[in-house]
Amino acid sequence: VIEHYGLDIWGDDNFIIDRDLLKINYRSSPSILEIVEQIRDNGIKGPLILRFPHLIQKQIDSIYHAFHRAKEEFNYSGHFNAVFPLKVNQLPNFVQNLTRLGEKYNYGLEAGSKAELFIALTFNNPKAPITVNGFKDKEMITLCFLAHKMGYNITVIIEGIDELENIIEVAEDFDLPYPDIGIRVRLHNMGTGIWAKSGGIASKFGLNSTELIKALKIIKVHKLTEKFKMIHFHIGSQISEISPLKKAIREAGHIFAELKRSGADGLDSINIGGGLAIEYSNDESRRDKNYMLAEYANDVVFLLKTIANAKGVDEPNIFIESGRFIAAPHALVVAPVLELFSHEYNEKELILKEENPPLIKELTELYRDINAKNALEFLHDALDRMDSLFTLFDLGYIDLQDRSNSEILVNLIIKKSLFFLKDKHFKEIIDIQNRVQERYLVNFSLFQSIPDFWGLNQNFPVMPLHNLSTKPTRSASIWDITCDSDGEVPFDKDNPLYLHDVDLEEEEYFLGFFLVGAYQEILGMRHNLFSHVNEAVIDIDDQHYTITDIKKSQSIIEILDDIDYDTAKLEAMLYAKIDSPYKEMLKDFLFDNGYLKTVQGLKCYSH
Ligand SMILES: Cc1ncc(COP(=O)(O)O)c(C=O)c1O
Repeated sequence: VIEHYGLDIWGDDNFIIDRDLLKINYRSSPSILEIVEQIRDNGIKGPLILRFPHLIQKQIDSIYHAFHRAKEEFNYSGHFNAVFPLKVNQLPNFVQNLTRLGEKYNYGLEAGSKAELFIALTFNNPKAPITVNGFKDKEMITLCFLAHKMGYNITVIIEGIDELENIIEVAEDFDLPYPDIGIRVRLHNMGTGIWAKSGGIASKFGLNSTELIKALKIIKVHKLTEKFKMIHFHIGSQISEISPLKKAIREAGHIFAELKRSGADGLDSINIGGGLAIEYSNDESRRDKNYMLAEYANDVVFLLKTIANAKGVDEPNIFIESGRFIAAPHALVVAPVLELFSHEYNEKELILKEENPPLIKELTELYRDINAKNALEFLHDALDRMDSLFTLFDLGYIDLQDRSNSEILVNLIIKKSLFFLKDKHFKEIIDIQNRVQERYLVNFSLFQSIPDFWGLNQNFPVMPLHNLSTKPTRSASIWDITCDSDGEVPFDKDNPLYLHDVDLEEEEYFLGFFLVGAYQEILGMRHNLFSHVNEAVIDIDDQHYTITDIKKSQSIIEILDDIDYDTAKLEAMLYAKIDSPYKEMLKDFLFDNGYLKTVQGLKCYSH
């Protein structure tokens, strides 16, 4: 069993277990359960995303602290700057907290699309940098010129020569002053892991050496050398090993120096993109990354210094576009367990007939006579009989009661054999154990709340928020409420999840899915039309915590409107089919979100 759900490994001291409860390890240390209960008391039911601004602050502080320390240690003369890549989380409750908390550092934003650029133009701290990546048309480039006109310190990073040509055309078309220009370089070094495609020679992005030389020529011809300030690369998200990053830094450092020596006089910055990894693992032997932030910062600063000094150029300013590292820890999804689907069978459920089919009689004897010595043989016999009985059922020779009896008997035999063979590592036994976990039906959609689990097999830490002084005994798989068999976090025998044996009639049971603040919210899909979950922002001080902002999950009618149903017509058509009071009931359901409700969550409708 993994101790405390691996909290020591992925938790980064953000949470503590205090007897039964998981608490936030900050100032007044409220338990997550009490926060959830308070929100639910306000009528917000179903899954919930909790945001903790102090965890955004912690990540921002730590990144600036690490680079400032490294700069000091190596006596580095370039400046350190950071921008947050909006693609990682564009939600207002996140972005507005981020810009507020980053203001003292002049923390900026990165945009990769027109819509993200509009967020940056509205909310970026006035003096903080903005970088713009991704493919751009003339309209998007014009927007960058307008940002410059608004007074923003904006750098347009070109992905190809055509974008440079478009920049020049836009300047001429509108007679507007140029924003700063950056160039994304195509490195041959790439990262490792599932997101490594962003770097390397076959990457979708950036200019190769030949194109770089050509771009510099165009820049010189148009007298833009003072505007060409930055080179940029990004070798992929969640860099698991430090060595590819070091190689990329070396390559980019030399490209920087070579460009400077070729007359790129204004060039003064290297933007090292994102990629700083988060530890999602709950297992010491399978950590997701092999370095810490301090090592990462030291390597970047030291290598860039060494190369700049060796080639006799100024030490470049460093820009970082770390997203996952900043955003992932601040949010967790809390979802109630709705039901336990047990594979347990009870002897009392057996309803044997006066005269049973011979195979059932044999199963009864196997069940009676199984012992430590014959357990494996009897198990094989039982499974064999069950196969035959199911065939007999398909052919119409036995009835449903016989089939039920055979299911129960075989399951009882399995249980007994597991008991007798528990210390032996027979393959069948392991396979069977893996097949007989408890299924926890959880009120959330995996496609909406942890889409990278579905799309990329990315694991997110999961643990209950309470009952933590009781040993969890149920090997568990988690089912979501979508009608999709992929909506499952299956039991993984190499990384088993054990949950508590709870009686949901008596008590509620809440699970937390952690480190979901990066990418998940926007990538989240509305499969089965489940919407982004309810959200709340929690500020914690020395005495209390405050729920500062609650955003309710979209209602069913809002989702239908979003996918272009004429909702006025839809409502009229619906209500015409039924009288009061059912009409009002229908309307209430339509104007609520689509997550499931426990019986307590249902209103009473009187006639
Ligand atoms: C250009 C660029 N910068 C930054 C990032 C953020 O990466 P991460 O979230 O791994 O820090 C990305 C992510 O794909 C990116 O494409």
